[in-house]
Amino acid sequence: MLSEVLLVSAPGKVILHGEHAVVHGKVALAVALNLRTFLRLQPHSNGKVDLNLPNIGIQRAWDVAKLQMLDTSFLKQGDVTALTPEQMEKLKEVAGFPEDCADHEHLAVLSFLYLYLSICQSQRWTEESLELINKWAFQGERVIHGNPSGVDNAVSTWGGALRYQQGKISSLKRPPALKILLTNTKVPRSTKALVAGVKSRLLKFPEIMAPLLTSIDAISLECERLLGEMTAAPAPEHYLVLEELIDMNQHHLNALGVGHASLDRLCQVTMAHGLHSKLTGAGGGGCGITLLRPDLERPEVEAMKQALTSCGFDCWETSIGAPGVSVHTAASLDAPVRQALDGL
Ligand code: PMV
Repeated sequence: MLSEVLLVSAPGKVILHGEHAVVHGKVALAVALNLRTFLRLQPHSNGKVDLNLPNIGIQRAWDVAKLQMLDTSFLKQGDVTALTPEQMEKLKEVAGFPEDCADHEHLAVLSFLYLYLSICQSQRWTEESLELINKWAFQGERVIHGNPSGVDNAVSTWGGALRYQQGKISSLKRPPALKILLTNTKVPRSTKALVAGVKSRLLKFPEIMAPLLTSIDAISLECERLLGEMTAAPAPEHYLVLEELIDMNQHHLNALGVGHASLDRLCQVTMAHGLHSKLTGAGGGGCGITLLRPDLERPEVEAMKQALTSCGFDCWETSIGAPGVSVHTAASLDAPVRQALDGL
């Protein structure tokens, strides 16, 4: 039982290289960002559990007593396991959602409800460990994405910079403090649909698609090698190679069929300022990353951000390699974060 306000945060993340290819057993490089999502767990005496996700406009409340009375035996005990389609149906019933609901807002609520009911039932909250958090986060991803590779939850749990391949994770030792611009095109997309699109193209054109995935794998490995070299002695030439890798991967991702006009626009705008970008994650809209070389002058960065904003995009300057999921005391938080949480 929670007796005081608990503040938890997890890093934002981007995939540097290897999105989509990772679903097909190739290497991905993912990094945690110094842009965090905060969770405030606050005890209430009104007997309700409230879910408030202001960024996607969700506010829901359930009676704890009613939740406790639910027959949750359909959620398996024991180890953290995949949610079956039947369990998903039951969960929708519990939430009072229509069977065919598939939009992000409904799925986010279902993901919360699933994790809440399962974690309460499992009584393993006390032996919380990063492995368990990672497993729960993976199951939450499954509710939303269907069949995720596991790279996203891993990097958000452990932070830093990770190499991920078929569930095998290794941390890059002391990754260089690369600065990037994260740009949200605000074009909505479904990861599930994009992943399925790549799979069907792979089945249709195996001879064309398999070499692309192998090439993306090689880009991830070359990037990993380069980041290792940069830890020891970063040089301007390293940034030029990183930019070449970004361009090649972006073209490959377009060939996989996960590009979008908004992402092309993002690449063109940054290229007009001499900077290189690629989509990150599922593509089809969503977010892109731009490498900010250390030699850049502030006015150049500001001009590019201005140009991106006038396309209707949102952007944030950030750096890679942030800590993973963390617990905070209120006093240790920056004032703007504290104010935002207090305003909820
Ligand atoms: O955009 P996101 O956060 O949904 O990332 C998807 C990354 C993929 O490689 C396309 C899918 C996956 O599960 O790894």
